[in-house]
Amino acid sequence: DWTTTNVVDEQVELIRNQVGDKQVLCALSGGVDSAVAAALVHKAIGDQLTCVYVDHGLQRAGESEQIEKDFVAAIGIRLEAIDAEEQFLTALAGVTEPEQKRKIVGREFIRTFEATARKVDAERHIEFLVQGTLYPDVVESGGGTGAANIKSHHNVGGLPDDLQFSLIEPLRTLFKDEVRELGLALGLPETMVYRHPFPGPGLSIRIIGEVTRERLDILRAADLIARTELTAAGLDRDIWQFPVVLLADVRSVGVQGDGRTYGHPVVLRPVTSEDAMTADWARLPYDVIERISTRITNEVDEINRVTLDVTSKPPGTIEWE
Ligand code: XMP
Repeated sequence: DWTTTNVVDEQVELIRNQVGDKQVLCALSGGVDSAVAAALVHKAIGDQLTCVYVDHGLQRAGESEQIEKDFVAAIGIRLEAIDAEEQFLTALAGVTEPEQKRKIVGREFIRTFEATARKVDAERHIEFLVQGTLYPDVVESGGGTGAANIKSHHNVGGLPDDLQFSLIEPLRTLFKDEVRELGLALGLPETMVYRHPFPGPGLSIRIIGEVTRERLDILRAADLIARTELTAAGLDRDIWQFPVVLLADVRSVGVQGDGRTYGHPVVLRPVTSEDAMTADWARLPYDVIERISTRITNEVDEINRVTLDVTSKPPGTIEWE
């Protein structure tokens, strides 16, 4: 029967048999799936695993540190962290169109990951790539229920033909809540295990307008306040996601102290959902919204107005871009 111990033991055994003495690579995104997959593989084969984290500079406050420090401390994993902020911001300069932002972030990610994979491959000849595919993704792509967690030499997410790995997918029989249980059993920090979903393009699609470092810093400050207050109110698990969106090209007049301000608005977009296909705007308690609003306008100089998005999905999407 299903216990985390059984699943871990079974997977560890499977992975050891598949991998033998070969070397394995895993890309960490900051999300729970890739983290749990990596932790599981690390438990099975230890230092034969190398993890890669591409820091695109579009993460929220503290997220890169969580991967580079907390995760490494908890699991003891070998990590190649790539600081690619400059590269991503240069590629995004002047771009405002949402799909364009997604394409650019995706392209730069693959480029950086590929270069890093080549480097690690040259050092220790990589045979396998770990992916955090879950059961619902397997079903969706017609993969059936097979318990086997390996696919042979598929071309992976845009990597070139001469850089091919066999895939290890240790989560492909599991649902999200099972992955979380496994993560806790493997010693991952709770903040990582219960993290809300966060889009691959990161904060680039939560800045309406051009993405710059200054705007990212403003948004990170506001976002951290919203997340901190949500957690303090004990509401993390009631909310599916809580994007904070910076309307970077909009300014409005305000007054603060003895002065007139002319700052930017942010939008709070807390939603409830089961699967992100549909969503409802979350009825957060007014006192929580008030604390968030007061703190953001007091503590983030460039923001002088906080608004609440009360649109369900459909017709609105969860993200603004
Ligand atoms: P929307 O905005 O379409 O979002 O209601 C549904 C879910 O998907 C996430 N999302 C993305 N995730 N790359 C991702 O990895 C993307 O480009 C992307 N766009 C949206 C969003 O955060 C929500 O959980």
